[in-house]
Amino acid sequence: MSNRTPLMAGNWKMNLDWKQGLALVEELGEQLAGVDMSRVEAAVLPPFVDIRTVQTAVEAGSLPIAYGGQDLSAHESGAYTGEVSGSMLKALGATYAAVGHSERRQYHGEDEAVTNAKVKAAFAAGLVPILCVGEPLEERQAGNQVEYTLAQLRGGIEGLDAADAKQIVIAYEPVWAIGTGEVATPDDAQEVCAAIRGALREQYGPEVADAVRVLYGGSVKSSNVAELMTKEDVDGALVGGASLKAEEFAKIVGYQG
Ligand code: PGA
Repeated sequence: MSNRTPLMAGNWKMNLDWKQGLALVEELGEQLAGVDMSRVEAAVLPPFVDIRTVQTAVEAGSLPIAYGGQDLSAHESGAYTGEVSGSMLKALGATYAAVGHSERRQYHGEDEAVTNAKVKAAFAAGLVPILCVGEPLEERQAGNQVEYTLAQLRGGIEGLDAADAKQIVIAYEPVWAIGTGEVATPDDAQEVCAAIRGALREQYGPEVADAVRVLYGGSVKSSNVAELMTKEDVDGALVGGASLKAEEFAKIVGYQG
């Protein structure tokens, strides 16, 4: 058993306006009252326009819920229409920023250079990046899942020093498992999560590798999370669809029963 605190992060994607987000966070706070939050960390990644409201609800209720952005700009400030900076998220009390989600890579053309710049921008703003990596179906079918995912990992963390690397969260999300209902088997998740930790060990040594939380993401639900969490190198989950219902997400957070 590792001494890493598991992280269950809910990626709301482009769902829930601020009123709906407020209702969800308040209900989640109530549901989490029944969960031993000293053993697990819960986070939500709402749309940017919901974050101020989430902040107010979390602070008013002292809710055990961290939050962050689903993305951030690679730039600090200035003429980047439509973008949101890490320091703006930090000013809202955010802890995390997801970087390189497969939907960002697919629909916004984000490559390794962009994800690397965003990882660095997150650290520069005092946020913890959740770097998302994972192979598409054809790479899995060709047996290239480890090689493909590690290439994304190495590109995303290039140039990070050990102090930052130790803080990062990596989310292994095979693209074929995202939003499809087709969850990876615990052994498949473990294979790639262990390879990610191995690559971190090779690059930074055991102290960093043992500290970094490696999440699994892709069709995680309350009914399959416990089995995934039995795997040594799976330290939590990045949850999409199942994070939109307070009761279901609270069950995921409280997977230990
Ligand atoms: P899903 O999404 O849980 O709906 O499969 C996961 C994600 O994309 O983070």
